[in-house]
Amino acid sequence: MKQILLLLSITGATCSMQAQDIQLPTPARSGGKALMETLNERRSERAFEKKAMPLQTLSDLLWAANGFNRPDKRTAPTASNKQELELYVVLDDKAYLHDARKNVLTFIAQEDFSAALGQGNITSKAAVNIVIVGDNSKSQSKYVYMDTGYISQNIYLYAASAGLGTVARGSYNGAGLFKALKLSGKQEVTLVHPVGYLK
Ligand SMILES: Cc1cc2nc3c(=O)[nH]c(=O)nc-3n(C[C@H](O)[C@H](O)[C@H](O)COP(=O)(O)O)c2cc1C
Repeated sequence: MKQILLLLSITGATCSMQAQDIQLPTPARSGGKALMETLNERRSERAFEKKAMPLQTLSDLLWAANGFNRPDKRTAPTASNKQELELYVVLDDKAYLHDARKNVLTFIAQEDFSAALGQGNITSKAAVNIVIVGDNSKSQSKYVYMDTGYISQNIYLYAASAGLGTVARGSYNGAGLFKALKLSGKQEVTLVHPVGYLK
């Protein structure tokens, strides 16, 4: 009976995926450098060598950023556990929404995101641009911005631990990303994090 239920749930998850969605491998959730060493290496990096990121690394990065480390809670805290932040993932000319429960990148749009991302010298060379999006209808704006900081630091620490480079970027085109990522209502881009291979 258990096996039938498992099969049904796997089939259900597969059926709800669209052709352009990406199923990520299970995040590793272990390993990496020691914390003090990682903190010692945490820094902003802006010069990347253009290289594709393996899906396992991307999965680990997104899990570190804001994945579930308990049944209903995540690697980054949020005020009153509102979990009002989502990660959008821009891979070249394609944008996806990270479904942290299913570990799937759900396809959103295909277009040239460079103007909306801004600072093309950095963002175009990154392997991935993570766009942090808050929902101001789910939490107070001040908490949306504060909670963004925890995700940002998680990205910084994962990058330092994995020998990758990243930088928090506030200088994006908010209206441009709102439109390009098909955001709605009180959603708002709060930060852009290019992550890439160091030159
Ligand atoms: C909220 C925030 C916004 C930032 N925006 C940008 C940005 O738009 N462009 C950029 O190159 N760096 C940006 N930075 C990176 C800072 O310039 C950087 O963190 C600072 O110079 C300290 O360097 P460090 O991160 O290596 O310690 C931002 C950092 C934060 C925390």
